[in-house]
Amino acid sequence: LKAVILIGGPQKGTRFRPLSLDTPKPLFPIAGLPLIQHHIAACANLEECKEILIIGSYPTSIMAQFVTDMQKEYRLIIRYLHEFMPLGTGGGLYHFRDQVRAGNPSAFFLLNGDVCADFPLKELWKFHEGKPNALVTIMGTEATRQQSVYYGCMVREMNTNAVTHYVEKPKSYVSTLINCGLYVCSLLVFQIMAEAFQRKQDSFYNGNGQGSPGYMSWEQDVLSPLAGTNKLYALQVTNWWSQVKTAGSAVYANRHYLELHQNKSSEALCKILPDVFIHPTAIVDSTAVIGPNVSIGAGVTIKAGVRIKESIILNNATVHEHSLVMYSVVGQDSTVGEWSRVEGTPSDPDPNKPFAKMDNTPLFNNDGRLNPSVTILGAGVTVPAERILLNSIVLPHKHLTRSYKNEIIL
Ligand code: GDD
Repeated sequence: LKAVILIGGPQKGTRFRPLSLDTPKPLFPIAGLPLIQHHIAACANLEECKEILIIGSYPTSIMAQFVTDMQKEYRLIIRYLHEFMPLGTGGGLYHFRDQVRAGNPSAFFLLNGDVCADFPLKELWKFHEGKPNALVTIMGTEATRQQSVYYGCMVREMNTNAVTHYVEKPKSYVSTLINCGLYVCSLLVFQIMAEAFQRKQDSFYNGNGQGSPGYMSWEQDVLSPLAGTNKLYALQVTNWWSQVKTAGSAVYANRHYLELHQNKSSEALCKILPDVFIHPTAIVDSTAVIGPNVSIGAGVTIKAGVRIKESIILNNATVHEHSLVMYSVVGQDSTVGEWSRVEGTPSDPDPNKPFAKMDNTPLFNNDGRLNPSVTILGAGVTVPAERILLNSIVLPHKHLTRSYKNEIIL
């Protein structure tokens, strides 16, 4: 088995700003690990999975160190395949098809790099193996009617789980069974992709195509036509799953990955309310109270009397004495002064629902007002002492002088 992880490129992830300005979204730490390391760990856990290909249009130099580190850590073949320009969710995969086919793996996983899950890969693969006709099996989950239209929606035959109809982000309601962006594919899918690619090229050179030559949407150009042919299946799961689109959804995913891995710091440095991840190089004062659902990165300093909950503190940030950080992301190298408050608004989804909160919240309300539920400090931001920052987004390298509420500080 192999796995392919799609990570897009610098042109994507705009909703993840300002965090993506310094760290490419696929490498943004969630529960102490880069976002796609969770995918890699899940693949490495499956003995049969021997090779991982990461496809994206980030410059190779940005991904090189990460790939080397991952190879060392997981002892798998891991390669980054650089897409010369964004070719879409299907175009990159098709472009690098020979790399996927090499060695004739029995199947490959296709994983969207911006989803978080407990990755039931074995279950998905076994299901796929049990369907001799299947070219693609999609992991699906149940959403509400309102949420569903932001995703790929599937209608399936209940007895066989064959997908009879697939619509990507439908204009109106189709089904509450949505595509989680996690798949198992047989190598024969490349034959179908070749036909889809030819149609795409013909339409492009006839002047009807969008994007660039080589561009192909996996969902619209491959999955939609496959529906109803008995070659596309859906496995519905109730496992935890969510997307990381906005910075707010990163805080949400952080909470769940911490819970899933029950990450603990090596020793209790201060009062900890689980779940918490503290990098071993962080210095945390013994009078600080950290948690629940907090990740603290490398080289971070947390001073006396600090209280942090439901937040991500990125590398080398400093939170000074008696400050409070909650429902927030503090960017790398940022500083929060003494007795300050950096706060978002708690938005607890129903913990009993297996389906995660969908973060499709628009950044602005209809009246143009900012609508974040978290506060985000970009890299190198300075919050002075005794200030309050509530539901605000601060772009990198700002030295604030006053308090802010519901603002974007450019
Ligand atoms: N290599 C590469 N090249 N990757 C890409 C490209 C590209 O041109 N475009 C997008 N990706 C990657 C993204 O980085 C992301 O990890 C994944 O492919 C999905 O792409 P999006 O374009 O962001 O799609 P989406 O998240 O709105 O919707 C997809 O995922 C949903 C589940 O999270 C669809 O597959 C939906 O059907 C699905 O419900």
